Parts: sequence; C-alpha cells; structure tokens
Amino acid sequence: MVRVLFVCLGNICRSPMAEFLLKHLAAERGCEDELVIASAATSAEEIGNPVHRGTVKKLAEHGISCAGKHAVQLTRRDYQAYDYLLGMERSNLRSMARILGTDDPQKIRRLLDFSAHPRDIADPWFTGNFDSTYDDILEGCNAFLDDLEANGLIHPKGKGE
Ligand code: 4NP
Repeated sequence: MVRVLFVCLGNICRSPMAEFLLKHLAAERGCEDELVIASAATSAEEIGNPVHRGTVKKLAEHGISCAGKHAVQLTRRDYQAYDYLLGMERSNLRSMARILGTDDPQKIRRLLDFSAHPRDIADPWFTGNFDSTYDDILEGCNAFLDDLEANGLIHPKGKGE
C-alpha cells in the first residue's frame, strides 16, 4: 500500500484537486486499491471549509466528485502516517518541514518534482486560473503514478481500458 498526502496552503484549491484527480487516475489504471490518498493544509485559515468552487467546477468538468471533503490541517503525526507528503510549491515545503519536524527529501517533495519539468504549481486562490492548475496537477499525478509503477510500488491493471 502506498500512502500519499497532498499538501497546500489552504487545502481548498490545489491539494484537494490533486487528491481527487489522483484517485480518479488510479481507478482508471486499476490500481486504486494499492493507494491511500488524502490532502491537508499548512495554514489554519480554511480548516473545516469545503473545496473552493473553482476546484469543484474543474473536477466536475472531468466527471470527478470531491463531495464531502473539508479542509484539514497537516500534523506532525502525518510524517509517519504517509509514505509521500507532496507539496505544491517550495513555500509549502518550508511550512511542511516546520510542522513535520523534518524535511526528509525521500518523503517530502513537490508534486511536479516527479515531472520532466520540476516546478511550482501557482496558487489559483491568487491567480484565479484553475485551468492551468488542473493541467499542472494532471501532469504531476501522471508522472507520480508512472514513478510508482516504474519502482514496482503499484501494479496497474486497466491502463487505457
Ligand atoms: P490552496 O489555495 O493553498 O491551493 O488551497 C489557498 C486557499 C486559501 C488561502 C490561501 C491559498 N487562504 O489564505 O485562505
């Protein structure tokens, strides 16, 4: 079982988009049973709030529901509870290291560090651009699944079916 926690500043825009998109992509590849996927915030700002309407709309365009998700805060215990704690941008990694008490690069990375073009994912809370957020997160999630598969950590069955 591979346990993945996506992390962003508020847990209402980018990390829930990554959580529910990765669940969807894993189901498409037939390996959803091999993954535990969740998301959390570094800030307390939005705790308890539902997913931002921009993320809800973008996921719905692709037939993906995030119903029932509410923002939760990252805690120190999450370091042991997850195999990968994936931030969206460098500033998330700094906040994560403070909360988790470690910056262990094996577990704590940016999502797009798995892609051929490692980079930050801009915050749509500030940019208003949920389309480019979705494209970046899709690229990162596919690259992450490819990496897990290449390392024998997941065993996709239904890819493309
Ligand atoms: P997210 O976006 O980190 O992608 O969920 C944000 C949502 C809320 C806030 C900041 C970023 N906020 O300051 O409330």
